[in-house]
Amino acid sequence: LVVATALSAGLVLPRAASPSAGLVRPAHAATHRAAVVAEAAAVVASEVVTPSEFPAGNLRSLAEYDEMYARSVADPSAFWADIADSFHWERRFDEVVDANFDSTKGKVFSSWFSGGTTNLCYNALDRHVAAGKGDQVAFYHESNEEGEELPAWTYAQALAEVQRLANALRGAGVKKGDRVTLFMPMVPQLALAMLACARIGAVHTVVFGGFSAEALASRIEDAASRVVITADGVMRGKKLVGLYEIADKAAGLVRGLEVETQIVLQRLPPDVSGVSLKPGRDVWWGDATAAADPECKVEWVGAEDPLFILYTSGSTGKPKGVLHSTGGYMVYAATTTKYVFDLQPGDVYFCTADCGWITGHSYVTYGPLLNGASQLVFEGVPSYPDAGRLWRMVDKYTIAQLYTAPTAIRALMREGTGPLQGTSRSSLKLLGSVGEPINPEAWRWYYEEVGGSRCPIVDTWWQTETGGVMIVPLPIQGASMKPGCAMRPFFGVQPAVINEQGEEKEGACEGLLAIKAAWPSTIRDVFGDYERYQQTYFPIPGFYLTGEPPRRGGDGCRRDEDGHYWITGRVDDVINVSGHRIGTAEVESAVVLHPNVAEAAVVGYPHPVKGEGIYIYVTLNEGVHESDELRKALVMQCRSEIGAFAAPDVVHWAPSLPKTRSGKIMRRILRKIAASGKEVTADELGDTSTLADPPVVDQLIASHGIWL
Ligand code: PRX
Repeated sequence: LVVATALSAGLVLPRAASPSAGLVRPAHAATHRAAVVAEAAAVVASEVVTPSEFPAGNLRSLAEYDEMYARSVADPSAFWADIADSFHWERRFDEVVDANFDSTKGKVFSSWFSGGTTNLCYNALDRHVAAGKGDQVAFYHESNEEGEELPAWTYAQALAEVQRLANALRGAGVKKGDRVTLFMPMVPQLALAMLACARIGAVHTVVFGGFSAEALASRIEDAASRVVITADGVMRGKKLVGLYEIADKAAGLVRGLEVETQIVLQRLPPDVSGVSLKPGRDVWWGDATAAADPECKVEWVGAEDPLFILYTSGSTGKPKGVLHSTGGYMVYAATTTKYVFDLQPGDVYFCTADCGWITGHSYVTYGPLLNGASQLVFEGVPSYPDAGRLWRMVDKYTIAQLYTAPTAIRALMREGTGPLQGTSRSSLKLLGSVGEPINPEAWRWYYEEVGGSRCPIVDTWWQTETGGVMIVPLPIQGASMKPGCAMRPFFGVQPAVINEQGEEKEGACEGLLAIKAAWPSTIRDVFGDYERYQQTYFPIPGFYLTGEPPRRGGDGCRRDEDGHYWITGRVDDVINVSGHRIGTAEVESAVVLHPNVAEAAVVGYPHPVKGEGIYIYVTLNEGVHESDELRKALVMQCRSEIGAFAAPDVVHWAPSLPKTRSGKIMRRILRKIAASGKEVTADELGDTSTLADPPVVDQLIASHGIWL
């Protein structure tokens, strides 16, 4: 109880309550940190929770899970072949799996269902329409404006629109294997655009609508997309996001190729949008689809043909184009959706993720549609017009499964239980969490206040690279959960806990999370850079690594006495801000672009709502003075190079940075100072004997960051 009270004190203190006008670090950062540590310690006691009601579903018992899991690792070919046979293959596969995770034995690869040909769009739409489910709703569409009723899309309507759009793409010269960049708001048409690409064998690459023109341009360039699908804009809360303007600017920034066609969805009323299209290049979505043939023949593609590229951040270099292929991804996305969310006929499912991230790919577009589910797509934000919006939507659409991120839960938790009142949420069957570790207090609030202690919390650990959920407390009647624990591997997934030398640990232990054998939606390549793929993910023979060497990479993990997995967060230079994965190197590159900056180092620090905040240490050029203007300029620099979600929370003017004698920045020290400020102890700082200039650390501790 003491821990809980301290924690909520830490969590509910709004930033404005700090004496910040930006000058000192808010007290709550340290309180929060201390509370998180205490909380984690409390949970080590392995509290076990069993929801009061959960019906027998797709998995009837833990024994059934155990039996299926054992089969999935003992004979993956037989296990996955059975499942794959429930999909439509134009030509059935010859071989289920062939893979190598050991670069000393040849090229690393992963191949599933080879010899087979199929099509994701056909399996997601045509198959259900052919089975008489054409009138079932595929997407309900909730506007940003509460009360504005927007039409739902049935499976038949979705298929009709996809065919016209696919023909419009073909008309623009898009052929099998060509990349198409999607820069759209979170509306059903974004999923339809993905499916239109899949239908003709084109490779979609969705760029989250929060990215800047520069970031979009570099992704268009890397993927070499000549066609872009965008929208005039969208309202998110009270904010207008002018997507067309950004896409137009990006097209102008792209080097080495030309964006020849932009298809622009009209989402805003014309008087708000004010967009005038560039003749010869741009066409309104509505005009393009109206002019297109209503029937579009499916392009049958090989199981290993690429389906999509999705850019994601790592600890080094520019974002990587994670490539997923067709057959294995289809089977894995669909199967995880079926069991993780326990989809049943009549359920309405709601995932709040944007299709700009992997969660939207696997658990909005592909997984639910492959299962023939009805789902809600929400284009707005959970806090608009107030913090009760999500709960009212749950009641309005009778949502059975709600899948969201801890950052959203923490933000809503801050508002107390008031916004929950007046909503029943009785339709909810289970609650999902994704993207970052869920702290036990947020877990409890979600479980008790939102779900009334009835619904399992499905805390799904996975990554862009894994394509689908890997470790998860599957919802099973009578099964218990441990708050904050991801529990068990999904079928076919063989987790390993390794040490920094890459040796596997046994039994109850702590270390780095790795995966031992291929699963169907294993990342297939880094687009255009196979070397980087092999070096990044497979540096240790026999393992897929969850992060990048040579530093300790990826996710930290603890396996407890019961064999359950606890994900303890990233141990590398990747930070997770509101569930957005950001490479600190990317933010550093943006900051040092400023002519007055000599050097910058970026670290994450515990943030009560975002999970982690962005803390930047900046060393200015000789003779340049610290100023508010400069600070604002640096923030702007991050916004324009990456996007608003990458704007720093704290700027710390650093006379110099702590480095080893070989000149390497000691980020470990910077992380400790960011987390604890002046309260940092010598113990926390650890070994400082390799510092080239020890007084630098004292200077940094004596000064402080400026909270923005
Ligand atoms: O650090 C882990 C964290 O998010 C990272 C993957 O980010 P991304 O590729 O953007 O995919 C996010 C959606 C799957 C992981 O390496 N992460 C994701 N889910 C969890 C998590 N950390 C703890 N618990 C989770 N449930």
